[in-house]
Amino acid sequence: MKIHVANHPLLAHKLTVLRDEKTNSPTFRQLTEEIVTLLAYEATREVRTTPVKVKTPVAMADGVELTKPKPVVVPILRAGLGMLEGMVRLMPTAEVGFLGMIRDHETLQPSTYANRLPDDLTGRQCYILDPMLATGGTLIAAINYLLERGATDITAITILAAPEGIALLEKEFAGKNLPITIVTGALDEKLNEKGYIVPGLGDAGDRLYGVV
Ligand code: URA
Repeated sequence: MKIHVANHPLLAHKLTVLRDEKTNSPTFRQLTEEIVTLLAYEATREVRTTPVKVKTPVAMADGVELTKPKPVVVPILRAGLGMLEGMVRLMPTAEVGFLGMIRDHETLQPSTYANRLPDDLTGRQCYILDPMLATGGTLIAAINYLLERGATDITAITILAAPEGIALLEKEFAGKNLPITIVTGALDEKLNEKGYIVPGLGDAGDRLYGVV
């Protein structure tokens, strides 16, 4: 498993505003999209392409296009939905599947309540979108779900990550030589007793869409 913590002054600036408790939902949504586009640039560095030729007004040129089958972007509902627009802006021809997962507030264990994904993901590159890698439970369940359906390589894009979540992912997938990459905007300090990332940004779903 590879971990990439993005390091860019523009990203750090946007993350600072995102964390601020005074930032309202419309601004939070806008910033989330912008941050994801920056992270997606890094996360898609190894997206598969096929050589093609294109005719410019002057001459033939060598180019590339995304290899088929196209990559699949998988936002984890609810909060991952706030990341979708920023991702597909960079990769408009990708397909989009959905995975609805919720974690129990007491046990912090995830469960799946909805899925709209192809049964067969053989040979597909998958990009999971989930803003907060906290305990790691939801992401492990989502990655296993995609691996069971044959995904070839899986990149998870998260805005923030906690060391506890990264450690659990490493323990789960260590030594299995699986093609898993985590790209995150920042690695925070720790989790608190309620499973929130510290200093974090609070509940990403609530900050994107309000408390419902
Ligand atoms: N999910 C969130 O929305 N925030 C956290 O801090 C942890 C998990």
